[in-house]
Amino acid sequence: MNPPLRANSRNPLSQTRLRLVVSYVAVTAAIVLLCGGGFYSYVRWTLIERVDDTLKHVTQVVERSLVVKTGVDNRLSIDLDRAFASGQDDPAIERDLIYLEWFDASGKPIKSTALFRRPIPLERGYIHATVEVAPGHKLRQFTIPIRHKGQLVGYLRASHQWFEVDKPSQHLAIDLIVGACVTLILIGSAGWVLSEIALRPVHRAYDHLQQFTADASHELRTPIAAIQANAQLSLENPDGVVEDYRQSLEAIERVTRRMGKLVADLLFLARNEGRVAEAVESCNLVDILNLVVEEHRPLANTANVNLQFAPLSGAIVQGVPEQMHRLFSNLLSNAIRYTPAGGQIYLSVSQSSSKLTVEVRDTGIGIEKKHLNRIFERFYRSDKARSRAKGGTGLGLAIAKAIIDNHGGDIQVESVVGEGSVFRVKLPKLTEKPLADTVGMPWPNKA
Ligand SMILES: Nc1ncnc2c1ncn2[C@@H]1O[C@H](COP(=O)(O)OP(=O)(O)OP(=O)(O)O)[C@@H](O)[C@H]1O
Ligand SMILES: [Mg+2]
Repeated sequence: MNPPLRANSRNPLSQTRLRLVVSYVAVTAAIVLLCGGGFYSYVRWTLIERVDDTLKHVTQVVERSLVVKTGVDNRLSIDLDRAFASGQDDPAIERDLIYLEWFDASGKPIKSTALFRRPIPLERGYIHATVEVAPGHKLRQFTIPIRHKGQLVGYLRASHQWFEVDKPSQHLAIDLIVGACVTLILIGSAGWVLSEIALRPVHRAYDHLQQFTADASHELRTPIAAIQANAQLSLENPDGVVEDYRQSLEAIERVTRRMGKLVADLLFLARNEGRVAEAVESCNLVDILNLVVEEHRPLANTANVNLQFAPLSGAIVQGVPEQMHRLFSNLLSNAIRYTPAGGQIYLSVSQSSSKLTVEVRDTGIGIEKKHLNRIFERFYRSDKARSRAKGGTGLGLAIAKAIIDNHGGDIQVESVVGEGSVFRVKLPKLTEKPLADTVGMPWPNKA
């Protein structure tokens, strides 16, 4: 296993985090802008409507109080002093917020309660308008034509100070802008912290993947170098004897076989780690263990290790038979690999109400305590030189663990250096299905 890789600042996940927060804030800003803008427009529109209603009400009150006089030349006129005096009873007028103006039928200004001097041209008809009487001083106006028996007498115009609309609108706009800024800062900060928490597992997975890629490349480099060296040796020796070429080819064949196993293991992990086993079926564990034991017996005999198996009838689990086979092959091959000549390996099955326990016990070299919780990591070998010498790549237990996890099981290991190890696999027991439904050994041995 290579030394752990350190995450660098150019890690794409840091950029992802930044991008995530920026887009989060941008989306929130758009929503705040939309909602704030809508609220602002609604409030301003309501204020204008209130002023317009007041103006309309005042003009109606004044219109009702108008007394039309007919002059000597039959021209109609208004008793302005009385009319404007009655209009002043209105509370809004009293507060000096509303001005009244009277124009004759030709549009000529006749009387005004307004304080401003600059005459504002008359807009004829029932019209609401906003006009500027001085820089920064605006009025809202409403004009109505006054008729008597179908004849136009003149125009009545009421004006209201515009600051009644402007001032609260401005305050509201400032409040909304400050509120939006504070909200965005808070959301940005919260997003930054939350994205860090949310991306933590992704960070771990990313580091894990980088480490895995580095380890896999490292493991593949050694056999590739061996193949290259053997090929070069043969090419540089055109006059060599057949035996030399045979040795090189045998070495290449050995190494490629090892590479093939490594690639197959990597593929298996890539496809199966972190997944729930699909296509599960009831499988008879004892059948599977019998096959595994018989397949490994020649290896155990060659290593001069005694291999015993104590089966148990009715040991049925829900699982993928091929994976079960692979799991116990890995455990048994380890036991044989790490048990010196003259040692013992004992395989047994026991059961509780809900679980089946398979125990692989050996009297081998054992594992130091400090390695115990790391041996299930990919490429981890407690004694690298020894394991490599025996053709190990450090993936067997990682595969075993992945299979057990996928099947909802559990694996424990106990070991004493120099005395031996026990690997205990617990799998959920299947009780509902009758034994007749269980699967035997229909798959080819791929271990
Ligand atoms: N029964 C055992 N006795 C002693 N050490 C063991 C035993 N089983 C596993 N180990 C230790 O755990 C390490 C990891 O085992 P694992 O099966 O993952 O890798 P490997 O056997 O080295 O290679 P591979 O199984 O991929 O060919 C081994 O290298 C070895 O150091
Ligand atoms: Mg192994």
